[in-house]
Amino acid sequence: YVIGIDLGTSGVKLLLVNEAGEVCQEVSRSYPLLQEKDGHCEQDPELWVKKTTEALAELVSAFPGRVEEIEGLSFSGQMHGLVLLDEQQRVLRHAILWNDTRTTEQCRFITERIGEETLLQLAKNRALEGFTLPKLLWVKQHEPELFRQAKLFLLPKDYLRFRLTGKLNSEYSDAAGTLLLEVGAKRWSPQICEQLDIPLEICPPLVESHACVGTITAEIAEMTGLAKSTKVFAGGADNACGAIGAGVLAEGKTLCSIGTSGVVLAYERSADVQFAGQLHCFDHAEEAAYYSMGVTLAAGHSLSWFRETFAETEKMDHLLARVGEVPIGANGLLFTPYITGERTPHADAAIRGSFIGIDSKHTKADFARAVMEGITFSLKQTIELLQDSGKPIREVVAIGGGAKNAEWLQMQADIFQTDVVKLSSEQGPALGAAMIAAYGCGWFASLQACADRFLQVVETYRPIADNVQRYRALYQLYKQVYDQTKDLSH
Ligand code: XUL
Repeated sequence: YVIGIDLGTSGVKLLLVNEAGEVCQEVSRSYPLLQEKDGHCEQDPELWVKKTTEALAELVSAFPGRVEEIEGLSFSGQMHGLVLLDEQQRVLRHAILWNDTRTTEQCRFITERIGEETLLQLAKNRALEGFTLPKLLWVKQHEPELFRQAKLFLLPKDYLRFRLTGKLNSEYSDAAGTLLLEVGAKRWSPQICEQLDIPLEICPPLVESHACVGTITAEIAEMTGLAKSTKVFAGGADNACGAIGAGVLAEGKTLCSIGTSGVVLAYERSADVQFAGQLHCFDHAEEAAYYSMGVTLAAGHSLSWFRETFAETEKMDHLLARVGEVPIGANGLLFTPYITGERTPHADAAIRGSFIGIDSKHTKADFARAVMEGITFSLKQTIELLQDSGKPIREVVAIGGGAKNAEWLQMQADIFQTDVVKLSSEQGPALGAAMIAAYGCGWFASLQACADRFLQVVETYRPIADNVQRYRALYQLYKQVYDQTKDLSH
């Protein structure tokens, strides 16, 4: 058995997986987002450790007498978050997360100092608020005393791994989202660090995702009941792990993941992709592979926000079940999911969302449908960017919340105008983390061989011509809303 741990934004999820790829146990725990100021989004790293060890203990206790059979574990983690450690490896402040947008000024500074072209050559990405480097510069500017004490930064799941093993590392797929890595050259960038006056030593040592960094500490073994010999593999960024868990391991494969954020990503053999920074280009968690990706900041988050704010008494499943009764176009209601700003294609942290066309007869189900359609239109914009670059996209593998609901799967097929594939598991990142552990343990000769064993297609949703027609007209309207509303929030 192996364990895949997905350290997400709203909680941590653990899967116990056997050699056939079956999920034998699933345990999760949630933790809050700290949003004390406008645009701020933080979390307490101690809670990640506490909730994960609790969940590990629960998972192990449901497996009595067989703990020695758990060979290894690995991680998938929310990307970009900044954890700062002092000389004694103590956390200096709450982690600043990927969806925190306080760093517009630092992004401008990075772009001016390094130059957009050079940044694209070295880091393969442009400076965006969510990435780690702007967060480091923010701390340097606003909390200089604290920055002076900082000896090392870690990404969220790298910190969790450190607490489970005592080993300080990062790996390429998450490091790629910092803007400090030379994606492709696979090294921390001396040039970027020097030009921004960031000490190179603050960057953690790098390993491959399937590298075994060690075993769990005696203390964690004691707390969780896991055997001390349990091997720990580095793991990867949640989107890279999601891609692995969806079998996106070869050119031509595309993923659509709808979790708190939504992403569309395409597998790449090389890091020399030309999107002029409009899409991210990151290292995959498979060796010598990359992916291009666009991000909708608030995807599942838009839907949970809607339910919590306007339909508090209704269960999500119940609300979604009623969406199928509402016609395409939500009876004239259109939504843009920019409630926390937007990454792709607008790279605009200040833009805010909208409902347009509200009628006094609209129901909660109309609104929920409009939210789902708006999220899917936003993801369609990434599909279009990929297609405009000449990438043929005929099929998209769906994972996350968006893959649980038949209505939403059909909506993706109709809006994307591609086939949309549902797998036997929509677990994506946590399963991908388990697959990294399985590969690291030597169960398979490659991640692809593991995917061939673990993943089965259960259903393919095909675009329905009449629906495609109707969505096409709505999508043209959707695309106009950004320009027409941006003055409201700038
Ligand atoms: C990707 C991104 C999000 C987080 C969510 O660039 O910011 O998808 O990885 O955990």
